[in-house]
Amino acid sequence: MQVLRIKANDTHHLRHKMLRPNGTLDDCIFQGDNDELTFHLGAFVEKKLVSVASFYFERSERFPEPYQYRLRGMATLPEYQGQGLSSALLRTAFPVIKQNQCTLLWCNAREKAMGFYLRVGFAPTGELFTIPHIGKHILMSIKID
Ligand SMILES: CC(C)(COP(=O)(O)OP(=O)(O)OC[C@H]1O[C@@H](n2cnc3c(N)ncnc32)[C@H](O)[C@@H]1OP(=O)(O)O)[C@@H](O)C(=O)NCCC(=O)NCCS
Repeated sequence: MQVLRIKANDTHHLRHKMLRPNGTLDDCIFQGDNDELTFHLGAFVEKKLVSVASFYFERSERFPEPYQYRLRGMATLPEYQGQGLSSALLRTAFPVIKQNQCTLLWCNAREKAMGFYLRVGFAPTGELFTIPHIGKHILMSIKID
């Protein structure tokens, strides 16, 4: 398995399949995808892209840290889940986030993925809320030291 930086466009297939199966390809383009401080990571198994995650320099007012990153579009193809690929992407991202002077990573976690985020060290804040057409989410975060 190899973790590499990928382009925003490279994430679209996995985002569509895993996160927006009923959406259009346009729904797989996220705001800030091509911003200077945004980065996208992919895990490759036998040269096939099987897991993606994207990181945006974006602050949530719910946290006091002045410089924060937001995690979005985290997805692993079903047949590759549970093999540590998403965790590997996060481990690769943490030093990059730190290098960019940020001390917190947050995300709106899907209720179904909450167990994953807890397992890798994220903590929940507040109550579940609904994002239309997608479902219940919870704000989660992890400090980056
Ligand atoms: C959530 C998701 C990204 C996790 O990816 P993954 O590559 O399977 O994650 P990992 O293998 O790195 O998992 C790390 C640990 O979390 C556990 N885990 C993974 N998903 C879990 C879940 N939904 N609930 C509880 N634990 C989970 C794994 O078993 C593993 O535990 P271990 O350290 O004891 O082996 C993947 O299940 C997925 O793509 N889901 C569908 C899309 C989605 O919901 N994305 C999140 C949007 S917020």
